[in-house]
Amino acid sequence: MVEKIRIGALISGGGTNLQAIIDACEDGRIDGKMAFVASDQPGVKGLERARNHNIPCFVVEYGPFIQSFRQDPANFALPDDFDFSAIRAKQHLFPADVPEERVQAFFCTRAAAESRLLSEIDTHGPVDLLVLAGFMRNLTPYFIDRFNTDPGNPRIMNIHPAILPSFPGVDGYGDTFRYGCKVGGCTVHFIDYGEDSGPIIGQRAFPILETDTLDDVKRKGLEQEWQLYPQCIQNFARGRLKTVTLTHRLDDGRICQRTVVKTAHSAEGEFRDDGMAR
Ligand code: GAR
Repeated sequence: MVEKIRIGALISGGGTNLQAIIDACEDGRIDGKMAFVASDQPGVKGLERARNHNIPCFVVEYGPFIQSFRQDPANFALPDDFDFSAIRAKQHLFPADVPEERVQAFFCTRAAAESRLLSEIDTHGPVDLLVLAGFMRNLTPYFIDRFNTDPGNPRIMNIHPAILPSFPGVDGYGDTFRYGCKVGGCTVHFIDYGEDSGPIIGQRAFPILETDTLDDVKRKGLEQEWQLYPQCIQNFARGRLKTVTLTHRLDDGRICQRTVVKTAHSAEGEFRDDGMAR
């Protein structure tokens, strides 16, 4: 019998990607079992989807942490192992002109929420992979380093509604549509400390026609997401993904490095970096 990986999911909303992943686990397209679903928003449809499949779920709201910091920053309860300067040095999400107090408030409140998230996750037993399925918060190095304990083997995946690195942020399809792109797409990637950045596992593209509305673009995009995400997760589950840094010498002698995720297409297969539709 094939060994199944244990998958946790973070969501913020409707959870149609979560549903695609649950369905793929149930019908055998993913050799995996959902260990938990967590949301930063109470009452969202995604939680109902998880409950319908008897998947344990919980909510960690970020709002109360943010409010409590605003009310009394001096007495805000930070995690014991929180090291502001170490985290600040690793993550650069803000332009240089953002006041330092705002940056500090961001990292303190996120780390407090993430610490709660990590302890809740711990109560659900070990997980092999964490999937962000419409989770609309940036994770900080506080969380990422505690979950990704082996730096060479990332295990937090995200799906983004654009062909990254174009249009990171909260409205990938909207930004693609408003820019007048002829092609839209979605990307599954391992996360790093940046916003919607990190080694790309798979991408799908679709044409945008003159007659398409933004709703058409979202519909076409989500249809691709529901296929791409389960495929990438299954490749992870079968140990078919390998993140490697390649070094190239350019014509002018300069050295260029890029990190790619190679996929092996069979158990004995070679790992290859071979295109976008996997
Ligand atoms: C999806 O389009 C996903 O790519 C996007 O949110 C939507 C969630 O839909 N994620 C992001 O924008 C992350 N930056 P869903 O809740 O129905 O899966």
